[in-house]
Amino acid sequence: MNTRPALTVDGHRFLRGGREHRVVSAAVHYFRIHPDLWHDRLARLRAMGCNTVEIYIAWNFHQPTAGPARFDGWHDVAAFIRQADALGLDVIARPGPYICAEWDLGGLPAWLLADESLHLRTADPAYLAAVDQWFDQLIPVLAELQVSQGGPIVAVQVENEYGSYGNDADYLEHLKTGLIARGIDCLLFTSDGPEPRMLAGGTLPGVLATVNFGSHPKEAFAELAKFRPDSPLVCMEFWNGWFDHFGDVHHVRDAADAAEALAGILAAGGSVNIYMGHGGTNFGWWAGANHTGKTLADPGYMPTVTSYDYDAPIGEAGELTEKFHRFREVIGRYVPLPEGELPRQARRVRPRTVAAAPVAALRDSLDLLSTPLRRPAPEPIEKLGHHHGLVHYRHRINGPAGPATLTVDGVRDLAQVFLDGQLVGVLERDNPAPTLELVVPEGGAELEILVEPFGRVNYGPHLADRKGLIAGVRLDHQHLFGWDVRVLTLDDLSVLPTTPATEVADGPVFHRAVVDLPEPADAFLAVPGSDRTLVWLNGFLLGRLWTEKGPQRTLYAPAPLWRAAGNEILVLDLGGTSAPLTVELREEPDLGPTTAPPQH
Ligand code: GLA
Repeated sequence: MNTRPALTVDGHRFLRGGREHRVVSAAVHYFRIHPDLWHDRLARLRAMGCNTVEIYIAWNFHQPTAGPARFDGWHDVAAFIRQADALGLDVIARPGPYICAEWDLGGLPAWLLADESLHLRTADPAYLAAVDQWFDQLIPVLAELQVSQGGPIVAVQVENEYGSYGNDADYLEHLKTGLIARGIDCLLFTSDGPEPRMLAGGTLPGVLATVNFGSHPKEAFAELAKFRPDSPLVCMEFWNGWFDHFGDVHHVRDAADAAEALAGILAAGGSVNIYMGHGGTNFGWWAGANHTGKTLADPGYMPTVTSYDYDAPIGEAGELTEKFHRFREVIGRYVPLPEGELPRQARRVRPRTVAAAPVAALRDSLDLLSTPLRRPAPEPIEKLGHHHGLVHYRHRINGPAGPATLTVDGVRDLAQVFLDGQLVGVLERDNPAPTLELVVPEGGAELEILVEPFGRVNYGPHLADRKGLIAGVRLDHQHLFGWDVRVLTLDDLSVLPTTPATEVADGPVFHRAVVDLPEPADAFLAVPGSDRTLVWLNGFLLGRLWTEKGPQRTLYAPAPLWRAAGNEILVLDLGGTSAPLTVELREEPDLGPTTAPPQH
């Protein structure tokens, strides 16, 4: 007990055990890294010279549905923190509950959206009750790992850039007292953009204030110093790279330019958290989205891709990039670098191409994959008790009708419309008035709408980004009522046939390939010729590709997901080709054409 000195504030300085201390931290998200690789990524961070690792905790990753939170396996955040400790790293924990982070709904669980009257990120009692039951489960885990208990956690953040969102001081106060009441006794802090209004809205009296930025450290620190004149200068998020959206370019930032900004922060006497040290991957359905519209109903939706490489110094597959070496050199001027050789690059797969044969049309697999729920009107998945998945809506239209205009309001985010199994249109969220002309024969017709949700908005004034169809469907002026709704979570695909189908109808189709490898290794999977795809390796959803939009062209398939023999790759091609596909196993990632990131 009490073997480690606490991190304390003394005017402009941090102290540990009475000695001046500089925090040189970098961000790593355990939820974006296969747990077998946690140690590897942390060791690389330590090798860069960092004395601290910063982690967010993603509430929805632990508690995707309203039941008890999970802390086992990939969810074992305490194990991750202990691994950091074993490498000599201090830990900064940012438990949100909102974390932004380009993560679905900024880390808030989608089940909060089932209640339309609930106000996220405020002192609304319904929201606070949800937060409190989560903190009851999480915070004692963190409290035990604090410096006061001999653990590595030296600081804990309250909320995240709250000043960019709101000004509910009661909410921030509730979080702060909630942390303390549950045993947090280490340094508390907030982080915000370096602007007076943001600092005013996001900070708490008596709690360390920090700022986030990517360049111009002098100016940013000057803003912080104006707000808190007698306080350490801390950049809690030094954005040295950036993330990518579908349909945009892959953002990279020049290594020398980023290293210069880092040098500027440290030369100003600042402490730093490099965001990201290692970005990792938005596996599964976890990627978030941005929105530039005035409301979520306006155009401006920008879903984030699967890769969260972030152009960070440690690449998505653990690569030590040029930025790593430049940062290491800068860091070495201020804190001692660890001795010993730098970690080597992990083994990569020998490039090869495998054929993926169509095994089943999605339309023929609906009963294998789900049970329909009967609803008067289409509903979003949050109201159906789910947090992710494709959503299939089916309605029988009486005939004859038409030519008539079908209006589908509130598509989140892309919908294929089928009449009697034939594709009649593809609707996208940002098309403000998606309408289709239909002719329904005498005997009526079956209308099916398959919705593909992308990430929930994780940043900005509007966060309640429900998925599926969030408004009604009309034929001319008549509402269509009476729907069979299925949420296709696609969590268990072992129910699908494994042998190639002799005949598969057009429309979304599952394709399957089986691959033997000499030994497990890192690979990057491409599916040339496909449209929008979801790709699973041995039952694990690696993420999604969208060939037409890009920029990402390969999905990272880390070594621990492979076995030597009989690896199953499943591709759901949503654009609907029944022709066989090829899957390429590549040894290099392709995150698409690049450009410089925006300046912040
Ligand atoms: C903000 C948030 C982070 C992240 C970055 C951009 O600073 O606090 O969670 O979203 O922006 O990557």
